[in-house]
Amino acid sequence: MKIKALETINDSLNLLTFSKLFVLVDENTKRFCLPKLLSDLSNPQEVIILEIASGESNKTIHSCLEIWKKLSHYQADRKSILINLGGGVISDLGGFVASSFKRGIRFINIPSTLIGMVDAAFGGKTAVNLHAAKNQIGNFSKPEMVLIEKSFLESLPEEHLLSGFGEMLKYGLILDNDLWKQLGSLNRRELDQIDSAHIHRCIELKMSIVEQDYRENGLRKILNFGHTIGHALESLFLEKEKTLHHGEAVAHGMIIESIIASHKGLLKNNELEEISQVILSFFPKLTIDTNHLLPLLNFMRQDKKNENEVVNFTLLHSIGKAHIDYFIEKDEIFNAIDDYIHL
Ligand SMILES: NC(=O)c1ccc[n+]([C@@H]2O[C@H](COP(=O)([O-])OP(=O)(O)OC[C@H]3O[C@@H](n4cnc5c(N)ncnc54)[C@H](O)[C@@H]3O)[C@@H](O)[C@H]2O)c1
Repeated sequence: MKIKALETINDSLNLLTFSKLFVLVDENTKRFCLPKLLSDLSNPQEVIILEIASGESNKTIHSCLEIWKKLSHYQADRKSILINLGGGVISDLGGFVASSFKRGIRFINIPSTLIGMVDAAFGGKTAVNLHAAKNQIGNFSKPEMVLIEKSFLESLPEEHLLSGFGEMLKYGLILDNDLWKQLGSLNRRELDQIDSAHIHRCIELKMSIVEQDYRENGLRKILNFGHTIGHALESLFLEKEKTLHHGEAVAHGMIIESIIASHKGLLKNNELEEISQVILSFFPKLTIDTNHLLPLLNFMRQDKKNENEVVNFTLLHSIGKAHIDYFIEKDEIFNAIDDYIHL
């Protein structure tokens, strides 16, 4: 998987022999990002644009079906290429669509959100949701390449920048104390000036893990820190039709999972306090109550890392050091969520 700047697109495409070029967008990336991509392409008239409606609620098999039908209508063949121009919803869904159409056509990711740039566009995980349960249908398929254009962040609404920032904090917490300290010293209003060096550091950290354990048999599970609870929170809010963005859900998930680690004596109290304080300074506390405990547990039980219905967590031993495969019982999970409710 090669990572290059968008300006290299023509050279990059010249290296790949292809029959037809498709670009998948949503209405926002069509408006804000597609014009730039088309102006960079030497043969924009040959591009076929495919569109889905934006948002997590459209990351469904139904949207895939619509795209597969269009690919078929436009006679896409095994030599066609799909460019996924958008955030994590577009790259997760577009990657799945491409990897399963005619047993697999090649795809290129051009992330347009911060989450896409630091996480979703890389690593080869593709998926769609099954009802409210996250990422239940998908596979491992690497994009041919990922092309980064940081200026796409200029039109990204602040709430989505913040969501991407949540994933960036995760890399600091699991792998790099210095990155955590640098990101934690920023304030909410400075996020539109997020440093390219920080974006590159996140990509470097993710790729170093993915290269060692592409299929998530072990080490790669550390990237799921915050996601066991985070995905359950995201699903809960998706069902309630309230907006909780992915990185925001992960940020609160990281607090609750750090509480579990501190209850188990793995993480020092002062580090738990630092984690909660920094995260809550960017992400206001969520309103959840004890009625949500069981629905949250039921969502966690659908997590793909579980064995025999016991929920599998990645837990911190200290800031910058995470360990995988902690199987945590229901009461320990409920105690941690209860502590979060009373923070
Ligand atoms: N596969 C992976 O490894 C991985 C990793 C992290 C997250 N994800 C997935 O990514 C998704 C979240 O990603 P996301 O936050 O990028 O979601 P998203 O794709 O829904 O994008 C967020 C919003 O920003 C809009 N948008 C995108 N680019 C824009 C731009 N440049 N200017 C203006 N608006 C723009 C989109 O239309 C959408 O409304 C979740 O589904 C999550 O599960 C996947």
